[in-house]
Amino acid sequence: MPGQLPRNPPPQRLTASCILFVLSARRGLRSFRAACKSLGEKRSEAIAEAAEAQAARVFLEAAGLQKEEAAASVRWFLENLRRSSTADWRKVFKNWVQRRGKGEPVQYILGSWPFHPLPMELLVRPPVLIPRPETEELVDRIIKHYGNCHPRRLVDLGSGSGAIVLSLLHAFPMATAVAVDPSEDAVALTHANAARCGVENRLEVRHASSKDWASMSSRAFDLIVSNPPYIPSHEIPGLQVDVREFEDHGALDGGPDGLSVIAEVLRSARRVGLPGARIYLEVHHTHPALFERSDEESHSSLFASMEGLDLLDTEMHTPCMRRLWTA
Ligand SMILES: C[S@@+](CC[C@H](N)C(=O)[O-])C[C@H]1O[C@@H](n2cnc3c(N)ncnc32)[C@H](O)[C@@H]1O
Repeated sequence: MPGQLPRNPPPQRLTASCILFVLSARRGLRSFRAACKSLGEKRSEAIAEAAEAQAARVFLEAAGLQKEEAAASVRWFLENLRRSSTADWRKVFKNWVQRRGKGEPVQYILGSWPFHPLPMELLVRPPVLIPRPETEELVDRIIKHYGNCHPRRLVDLGSGSGAIVLSLLHAFPMATAVAVDPSEDAVALTHANAARCGVENRLEVRHASSKDWASMSSRAFDLIVSNPPYIPSHEIPGLQVDVREFEDHGALDGGPDGLSVIAEVLRSARRVGLPGARIYLEVHHTHPALFERSDEESHSSLFASMEGLDLLDTEMHTPCMRRLWTA
């Protein structure tokens, strides 16, 4: 889940930035045209690439992105441009640069992104949450915990792109799974990614909240996993702009203390988990301490939902605050 990145230039730099923008945009355009021309003339690919990269970086920096962010975006853009066989690459590239300049996440612009437990990239589409590196860590941890003794039936509550459930199906080839999400966009993307990963025959995708799904399901799961919306509502306005403006708030906002959906997920887990089932959750960095102070009235709904969970083996994974993507 997202960390905060200082993104916008401080106000005192604004005038200087505007002047710089005009100057550098003109310079950038010239280099961009030069890059196109040099490609047209079939000059060395390395020179063309360097010129494109410089042009795009100038645009992106002028649009307010930090130097290293702009450089990282350009790297991903070029890599994808090289892989795509589009004839009209100049238009595509320019469109990407413009969208990135407005703060759109690189992942949405490119349309697919690696999630390292999987050998293929996952499709990513707005506004479904972009899978994060800390969730890769959660998946790694689960796979390591199971070792050679794999789970048989698992459920992912809040599947989003399908990153978690698809990675687990890939790691546990004899397992079957259910993916549950109340967002139509997420359900469609989980389906599309399941087909891409070739595991659709082992996955049921359900369009429902975890509560509604669990109320109609039987006690049949030995692994329950969830990366629910867990950011406390008051933190949402302070999130970096590409998270706040582009990703579904229903995937981020966990209510006043970030625990609303977590409590629901725990109640659902209690309902569908077999004795000895394991539950893995990604939670906010403030949550593990709250779970320990289980007598506090302010979190009574959470603690009520934990009753009976001693039958299950619960593990929380707290993400470190990280960038969404790195150079
Ligand atoms: C933080 S995203 C996680 C997406 C994906 N599992 C991942 O790790 O990238 C949370 C997901 O939970 C879904 N969600 C929100 N409320 C829910 C609920 N009550 N029950 C189940 N899923 C919910 C959202 O639609 C969103 O797709």
